[in-house]
Amino acid sequence: MNSQIYGISSWPDTDAILDKLKQLLKQPPRPIRRDAMPAVLDYFETRCAGSKKLAAQAAGVIPGGVQHNLAFNYPFPLAAERCEGAYMWDIDGNRYIDFLQAGGPTLLGSNYAPVREKVHALLDECGPVTGLFHEYEVKLAELIRQHMPNIEMFRMLGSGTEGVMAAIRLARAYTGRKWVIKVGGAYHGWSDQMVYGMRIPGTGRREATGIPTGATAYTQECFPNDLDALKRKLLLNRLRGGTAAVIVEPLGPESGTRPVTADYNRQVRELCDKFGALLIFDEVVTGFRVGMGGAQGYFNVRPDLTVFGKCLTGGYLMAGGVGGSKEVMMLLAGGIGTTSRRAFVGGTLSANPLSCVAGYHAIAEMARTNAAVLAGRAGDRLCQGLNRIIGKLGLPYVAYNQGSIVHLQTSAVLLMSMKNPLKLMKEANVRKHMMEEMGAACLAHGILTLAGSRLYTSMADTDEVIDDALSRFEQVLSLV
Ligand SMILES: Cc1ncc(COP(=O)(O)O)c(C=O)c1O
Repeated sequence: MNSQIYGISSWPDTDAILDKLKQLLKQPPRPIRRDAMPAVLDYFETRCAGSKKLAAQAAGVIPGGVQHNLAFNYPFPLAAERCEGAYMWDIDGNRYIDFLQAGGPTLLGSNYAPVREKVHALLDECGPVTGLFHEYEVKLAELIRQHMPNIEMFRMLGSGTEGVMAAIRLARAYTGRKWVIKVGGAYHGWSDQMVYGMRIPGTGRREATGIPTGATAYTQECFPNDLDALKRKLLLNRLRGGTAAVIVEPLGPESGTRPVTADYNRQVRELCDKFGALLIFDEVVTGFRVGMGGAQGYFNVRPDLTVFGKCLTGGYLMAGGVGGSKEVMMLLAGGIGTTSRRAFVGGTLSANPLSCVAGYHAIAEMARTNAAVLAGRAGDRLCQGLNRIIGKLGLPYVAYNQGSIVHLQTSAVLLMSMKNPLKLMKEANVRKHMMEEMGAACLAHGILTLAGSRLYTSMADTDEVIDDALSRFEQVLSLV
């Protein structure tokens, strides 16, 4: 593993973390004290009146009142007004240290001026979309290839979800097989075939409302880090047509919430080679955030196909794509096409000049500034500080990080498993609500997190920002 040019200074001791998480799950939930919650909720009532009003209005016209999966909705969603660097301001003028970072794409910090200026210039010149071909499509693909040698060819799409759909379609077209194996708990977007074993391993179709069984008929899941189970599935599938692809989040399901062991990806690669399945790395989160070579560069493992999203456009719209070897990628050839067999992908706005200019300049800036390493250092500092606070307060919580992805497990709801369905049924909702309360308490102390349990750092997180955040976290965790 190459830590020098990557944001992950050392791979966490997976077994030790999983053990601590197991211990945390064994204990009863430890939420914010009941007598402390009224003050937390009072913050929203007294300081967030504008958001509250807008949220009530939204509830009448938007299902659930909120459209973004990562938006907080407890006690009500906050409406953002301004973002810059490490900070976000809501419409009531409250400032937050922003560890949501739009769910991951803004590794350079929010609303990074050098990229914004390039986007403005392009908008002035040709507007966001032409329907034709644009120079920046080539520049972006070449830049990706320069940093990720496994990507000989790249196809831009509309989102990570679309990238995953394309990768699976390509794998099936290339191998002539149907089965796709994912890791339980991993998120690969919301296409029919991937709403399977989401969040909690072993849950299969639990969230597949509105999805016919046929759509997931060739999707399978394995428990995280269980290579024997993966091998058994590959063996079984060999008797019934074979596996087209194994798809992984290379840090582990849910952006490394369940971290993989250091050697996991290499061993999955070996199994794929043995059984002739393609290996798909879903680098929607890790692409450029872990380092310019992505998780594949960090682990030094070659996937056959790589899915991109998020950092691909530095936070600008329509971040998605798929890349891989020329031999496989040529099955996607667009236009009149150069092959007779063609895996169909499309999108009126995909590969538009705006997304491509933003992507090119964002990635170029990430390389120039060494953003992944800077953000990774901030993640290390944040995680070390959180562990100090947890130790000082004698809490059972667990903090760990993979560079700029910091996990703070207080309720460990995402670590629950169908291996213990009774506990899951009994405690999942309580633990989920506890996480919501934790997220709300963080907000009331000026910290924006991802669902109260994940923190993305960016290049804008200086030592001062992190230290300020830590003193706020100490106040929050003292409420437990
Ligand atoms: C690992 C992973 N894959 C795919 C996706 C889907 O990407 P998008 O939200 O752009 O469709 C996500 C989104 O969070 C993700 O984290």
